[in-house]
Amino acid sequence: METNLVLEQPVYRTSTFEFLWKIFRNPLNALTDLANEQGDIARIKLRKRDLFLLSHPSFVEEVLVKQADNFVKGPSLQRARVILGEGLLTSEGDEHLAQRRALQPAFHRHKMEEYLPLMNENTHGHISRWKSGEQVDMSDEMMRLTLNIALWSFFGSAPEGVVERVSDSMKTLVRLFPLAQIPLPESARSLFPSFKEAKADLSEVTEALLRNPQSEHAKRALVNILKENHKDQFTDEQIHAHALTFLLAGHETTALLLAWCWDMLAHHPMAMSILQAEVDSVLGDRFPKPEDIQNLTYTRAVVKETLRMRPPAWAMGREAVHDCEIGGQHIPAGSTVIMSQWVTHHDSRFYDAPLQFRPERWFDLDVHSPPRYSYFPFGGGSRVCIGEHFAMTEAIAVLAMIARRWTITPAQLELAHPKPSVTLRPDKNVKTIVSRRAV
Ligand code: HEM
Repeated sequence: METNLVLEQPVYRTSTFEFLWKIFRNPLNALTDLANEQGDIARIKLRKRDLFLLSHPSFVEEVLVKQADNFVKGPSLQRARVILGEGLLTSEGDEHLAQRRALQPAFHRHKMEEYLPLMNENTHGHISRWKSGEQVDMSDEMMRLTLNIALWSFFGSAPEGVVERVSDSMKTLVRLFPLAQIPLPESARSLFPSFKEAKADLSEVTEALLRNPQSEHAKRALVNILKENHKDQFTDEQIHAHALTFLLAGHETTALLLAWCWDMLAHHPMAMSILQAEVDSVLGDRFPKPEDIQNLTYTRAVVKETLRMRPPAWAMGREAVHDCEIGGQHIPAGSTVIMSQWVTHHDSRFYDAPLQFRPERWFDLDVHSPPRYSYFPFGGGSRVCIGEHFAMTEAIAVLAMIARRWTITPAQLELAHPKPSVTLRPDKNVKTIVSRRAV
């Protein structure tokens, strides 16, 4: 497989203005065009600093792993503190390391499997309301389902009205997040009342969930394990920040992944049938158990292929804190570095027919093993997504639970187009027809 690096010094063919205009109109095309034009290291001169787009897997690995000490997450995520406080997503350096060490055991693969019954039961409750032949909006359905699963798994309950409140506040925050990118003082930010209200409401709900009476479920919930095991290490404020981070980072990304999976499956009936045949043979008439999650190999491949083609995290930014060199290119301190899952996951040097949905490509990896960081839907290195096992377990369980009982066909002719905002969303809701299977 062709993996040559493009090491010539980048040539400034794209003017800054042209690039910014393209980013404004369509960031996915802007980044793809930039990589096609300039190669594996593309460079754009901004007013005060340079911006580099690193597209080759070995350069992604340099930033995330080998030279991770030369980079921090950069101003945009730092500004997410306005919403998330000092949680795992926004902390840096020693503070991040300490938090990560303390939180990691709670996210271990085996721990995640303890949440599987909650995932199954919530999905079962959700889909038993469907009627055969009706139209189901998978974008809304998956958003509500993953929010319920997140509330039960992280807090141990999903009280009446909370799902709506969290989901309304989240919609407002995501819509107004660009405001959080503008370096305004907190007082100026409060001029935008709906942002302030949504933030306050989410905080209030999180606080109420954290104070929730200790049911048996709640005792096993993730945030209560943290409270119990780290009484001396985390202040109440930090527990609050972690809880909010898990809630926000944990449900929207997985909901989008699942909505994209259904869009792909609905438009690829052969893949839908293979998945159903696998689910029938592995599960028969029961709910998934932890060992099934490993054995549902085609279902996993569908999830992986969807994450390749429609990565909910479609680009990641870092800021260089020291002068460094990557692929022979000097990266001055202060530069912004972008790595885009969208660009690298669609590179034909690493994936045959990259625009085609082919779950079976994940079975050929011994023959066509692409470089490690040609695929990084969950990031990498010390800041790799802590919820990766949770998200994979949830996605496989939800797909299997639904495919056991329902066949999903498209209610719209074409696949949704990806629309990048904070995450990669479908440009229109994924509408499907659900038909009860004769099993
Ligand atoms: C399909 C689902 C998901 C995707 C695609 C995803 C993607 C990512 C990516 C790319 C990063 C790295 C960001 C960076 O380095 O700049 C990340 C970090 C993170 N994710 Fe996820 N995520 C998903 C699900 C979850 C879930 C279920 C949780 C639950 C708690 C979660 C919590 C976090 C946290 C706390 C971080 C920060 C980790 C750190 O900096 O140490 N994510 N995620």
